[in-house]
Amino acid sequence: SETGSLAIIVLGASGDLAKKKTFPALFHLYHQGFLNPDEVHIFGYARSKISDEELREKIRGYLVDERKASDKAEALSKFLKLIKYVSGPYDSEEGFKRLDEAISEHEISKKTSEGSSRRLFYLALPPSVYPPVSKMIKAWCTNKSDLGGWTRIVVEKPFGKDLESAEQLSSQIGALFDEPQIYRIDHYLGKELVQNMLVLRFANRLFLPLWNRDNIANVQIVFREDFGTEGRGGYFDEYGIIRDIIQNHLLQVLCLVAMEKPISLKPEHIRDEKVKVLQSVIPIKDEEVVLGQYEGYRDDPTVPNDSNTPTFATTILRIDNERWEGVPFILKAGKAMSSKKADIRIQFKDVPGDIFKCQNQGRNEFVIRLQPSEAMYMKLTVKQPGLEMQTVQSELDLSYKQRYQDVSIPEAYERLILDTIKGDQQHFVRRDELKAAWEIFTPLLHRIDKGEVKSIPYKQGSRGPAEADQLLKKAGYTQTHGYIWIPPTL
Ligand code: BG6
Repeated sequence: SETGSLAIIVLGASGDLAKKKTFPALFHLYHQGFLNPDEVHIFGYARSKISDEELREKIRGYLVDERKASDKAEALSKFLKLIKYVSGPYDSEEGFKRLDEAISEHEISKKTSEGSSRRLFYLALPPSVYPPVSKMIKAWCTNKSDLGGWTRIVVEKPFGKDLESAEQLSSQIGALFDEPQIYRIDHYLGKELVQNMLVLRFANRLFLPLWNRDNIANVQIVFREDFGTEGRGGYFDEYGIIRDIIQNHLLQVLCLVAMEKPISLKPEHIRDEKVKVLQSVIPIKDEEVVLGQYEGYRDDPTVPNDSNTPTFATTILRIDNERWEGVPFILKAGKAMSSKKADIRIQFKDVPGDIFKCQNQGRNEFVIRLQPSEAMYMKLTVKQPGLEMQTVQSELDLSYKQRYQDVSIPEAYERLILDTIKGDQQHFVRRDELKAAWEIFTPLLHRIDKGEVKSIPYKQGSRGPAEADQLLKKAGYTQTHGYIWIPPTL
């Protein structure tokens, strides 16, 4: 692996994303030995004029769980010392020149004979400043070629608001950096069970013959949160649940569920297959969409009183290919719902020739619980234990907490940042993938923005509008009554 100086520059260093996700992930990587203290230096860049020490104090409280603070105190103080702060505007050269000087100083001090200059720029910023910031990085802060190494930039969604704005953003950044230098994060791709999809599907003989329209009745990919948009109503109202969750996180999961087997595990081979899935999705029909907005959403002073922005949506996507024609992929996401969870639910078709007359008890389902309590379970019909010949719904359960007791599952951001340092783009969104994803949702989003598709009010803490359940039923999803999976407790 590569050696030499590694500079990680977090732009937008005092913002929410940096504090809550980027710095904690960097600290965990450091603590586990993935960032070599002889090589790495971290720079924070933002507009506010604060000192190194002030930045360290701002982020300190986010880095460790208070209960574990004492075990990690030493690592924490060493880590914080690695952070230097540079203040400056996002669109003028003077700040970036100073940033470059600070990085160069570090590189000279860390230079080894075979060492190189690696510079990772993490844009924890609103996308409106991506173009000027990328320009400044390109002009003043790229790695010094005589030292070798690389310059990479990491960007976060929202990548635009629709097809046109996303493409514009892509071409602006694409004019400055090559695709292999650009890491578009979708943090769902860093989740343990999302990363497991390829293995599950392609390393298990059991699934290979079943994974198609002949056996699968429908697929649901569901995201729920049991809180609303408190504190970020202003951002949220401009975007809505489709742009916030469905067009990116759930659609990425859909690709992994539906794609064909890639030629190999090379990132480009995997991403090629994902693009094909997206390009096979046919236009969404209005009657296959239900939008909702929770009651009380508009009480937020930053949300307009007549907002039609959905905080809930169920949309059915149809993949028009040999494997999936006729199988609805139901994507559902909502804020302020009755529970907090994300899962993938594959429902199989009925058994033909039902001699047990048990069909109404429920269908086989394979469920992958992404969070919380990572698990996968397969719902089966078995004989009710006892003297009588009766059937009952049960499950084969692989709950991670129980099965992998000593393993702590890494945070999505930790893995993804490590990938950016290693140069592995498998779990990042490629430009053509992003474009295809926007192509699917842009017509619907424009109609919602114009108020032509309306959000139905729903109660906070509910399942969302009843119309969504009706849509599921119409699409052929059969709900199992009287069965519930209970995650095992240790
Ligand atoms: C973010 C969305 O991308 O994902 C948030 O902007 C959402 O609205 C979050 O809360 C959910 O992420 P996770 O990892 O908690 O499921």
